[in-house]
Amino acid sequence: MTKQTDLGGNFTLPGTSITVNRMGYGAMQLAGPQVWGPPRDVDGAVAVLREAVAVGVNHIDTSDFYGPHVTNQIIKQALHPYRDDLVIVTKVGARRGDDKSWIHALSRQEIIDAVHDNLRNLGLDALDVVNLRVGGIAELAEGSIEGPLTVLAELKRQGLIRHLGLSNVTPKQLAEAQTITEIVCIQNLYNVALRNDDSFIQDLAKQGIAYVPFFPLGGFTPLQSSALDAAAASLQSTPMQVALAWLLQRSPNILLIPGTSSIGHLRENLKAATLQLPSETIAALDAIGGGPKQ
Ligand SMILES: NC(=O)c1ccc[n+]([C@@H]2O[C@H](COP(=O)([O-])OP(=O)(O)OC[C@H]3O[C@@H](n4cnc5c(N)ncnc54)[C@H](OP(=O)(O)O)[C@@H]3O)[C@@H](O)[C@H]2O)c1
Repeated sequence: MTKQTDLGGNFTLPGTSITVNRMGYGAMQLAGPQVWGPPRDVDGAVAVLREAVAVGVNHIDTSDFYGPHVTNQIIKQALHPYRDDLVIVTKVGARRGDDKSWIHALSRQEIIDAVHDNLRNLGLDALDVVNLRVGGIAELAEGSIEGPLTVLAELKRQGLIRHLGLSNVTPKQLAEAQTITEIVCIQNLYNVALRNDDSFIQDLAKQGIAYVPFFPLGGFTPLQSSALDAAAASLQSTPMQVALAWLLQRSPNILLIPGTSSIGHLRENLKAATLQLPSETIAALDAIGGGPKQ
């Protein structure tokens, strides 16, 4: 196993000493089907995490509501004690119903409990970055986030959290958040086919804030497009590699967290960092989502 030297370059979270490779890993796929319960192959999940870190990934995205608890426990089993340069980003703001549903959990006590669940299951004294997840996957809802974010800012002052980010939010909610505390990253739904955040990404780039798209490969509905297929064929790569390379070239503040439960897919995805897309390919890919959104 050799270290991959090019993981998309690196990015320093604003106002911090945290620098991560732009190509990271999203751990949600390590839980069982529907992100519930243990995976069929726990050893396989452990192996994926160890391989990721061994080749140089130093940014892992997770949450204690994956499983619930299972994904964090597998991360701890695979990687604890953690390497000094490993940055684990987690999120709070949701919980799982007994029917496997995803339920908002933004009350003061739910936020406090979620932070402690993450600390316990990851085996940490402090969390590197915690994202406050506000909207659902499919819908963003405008509205004040002062209540839950104030609780997280308190926990940060207590030393349980180092840095804060936001997930499933609008630019207006970021602006409100910045009156309460520093925000180092935004995690929203975005990929080559879903480009509602185009102008948000530009604004964040100007502020030096990281944009971490979730579902970079389409998530539960993997991306399918003739433009991706054609680009992959012309570049001796795969459609998923092209989709990731497009994101890396889209803006320097984009950090990737593609998810997979397979070592083969992990290796394939990490290699996307070495793929250079020519400008005519980017133009063809830009057309997938109906072109850039203002
Ligand atoms: N903030 C939020 O609300 C939110 C929501 C969802 C996700 N997230 C975060 O975002 C991360 C990434 O999202 P995601 O994992 O759901 O979606 P994704 O990265 O877009 O796609 C993952 C899916 O693609 C498949 N896949 C991965 N690499 C592949 C390849 N090279 N070829 C073919 N198929 C491939 C995976 O299956 P295999 O396992 O078979 O490879 C899995 O089904 C998650 O891990 C999580 O940390 C955040």
